[in-house]
Amino acid sequence: MVPGARLIVLGKQGAGKGTQCVRLSRRYVLPHISTGDMLRAAVKARTPLGLEARRYLDAGDLIPDSVVLAMIAARLDQDDTRTRGFLLDGFPRTVAQADGLDEILKPFSIDLVLDLVVPTGLVLARLMSRRVCEDCGAIYSTFAPPKLNWTCDFCGGDVVQREDDTEEAVTRRLALYDAQTAPLIARYATAGKLVPVDATGTVEEVAGRLLALVEARLGAGGAGA
Ligand code: AP5
Ligand code: MG
Repeated sequence: MVPGARLIVLGKQGAGKGTQCVRLSRRYVLPHISTGDMLRAAVKARTPLGLEARRYLDAGDLIPDSVVLAMIAARLDQDDTRTRGFLLDGFPRTVAQADGLDEILKPFSIDLVLDLVVPTGLVLARLMSRRVCEDCGAIYSTFAPPKLNWTCDFCGGDVVQREDDTEEAVTRRLALYDAQTAPLIARYATAGKLVPVDATGTVEEVAGRLLALVEARLGAGGAGA
C-alpha cells in the first residue's frame, strides 16, 4: 500500500471496525485512531472531556460534533499521521464531521473509505457477546475469549462487557447510525472513495477481503499509487 495513506473504516456498531483496524494498523504500520477508544480513555482518566462525554456514551448518544472535531484535529496534528497516514475508526459519523474532516485535511484528502457491510441481526449477536479489556481496549467475545480467566492476553487487564453494550444503548446507537452515519455512504460513493466490504464470515476471512481490496486500490500497481 502507498505510504501515508489516509483511510476511513465505516460500518454499523458491531460490524468489526475495531477488530479489523487493529489488523490493518499492524499490517501497514498505520496509526489507528478510534474516537470511541479516545472517549472511553478520557472517561476512565476523568478528564474534563471524559466527565462531559460519559452521559452520552452510556446512553448510546453521539458526542457533539464540535467536541469530536476538536479531538480529531488535535490528533491529526501529531507527526505520526503526517508521515504514516491514518486509519479512522468511528469517525466521521455525521455529515458535519465529514465536512469538518475535509477542512482539517486540506490541502490533502481521504484516499479510501472501507465500508464494512453486515446485516443488523448479525451485529446485534456480535455486540451481545463482545467483551473488551478495560485497560487497553483489546476486543474479545464469548466465542473468542482471552486464554486465561477473562484476563487480557496483552496487558493482563480485566476483560469485561462494555457499558454501552446494553440492549437499550445498542438500539439507540443503531438508530443513530441509520439517521446520521448511513448518509456518508452515498457521499463517499459519489466521491469515488467508497469500497464496500462483505464483513460476514470469520475475522480472518474479512481481514483477507479487506487486504485484497486495499491492495487492489492502493497497492504499488493500484489506482491510488
Ligand atoms: P465506538 O466505540 O466507535 O462504538 P460503535 O460505533 O458503537 O462501534 P463498536 O465499537 O460497537 O463496533 P465495532 O465495529 O468496532 O465492532 P468490534 O470490532 O468491537 O463508539 C462508542 C460511543 O462513543 C458512541 O456510541 C458515541 O457515544 C461515542 N462516539 C464515538 N465516536 C463518535 C463520533 N465520531 N461522534 C460522536 N460520538 C462518538 O466487534 C464487535 C464484536 O464482534 C467483538 O466481540 C468482536 O470480537 C466480534 N467480531 C468482529 N468481527 C467478527 C467476525 N468477523 N466474526 C465474528 N465475530 C466478530
Ligand atoms: Mg469499535
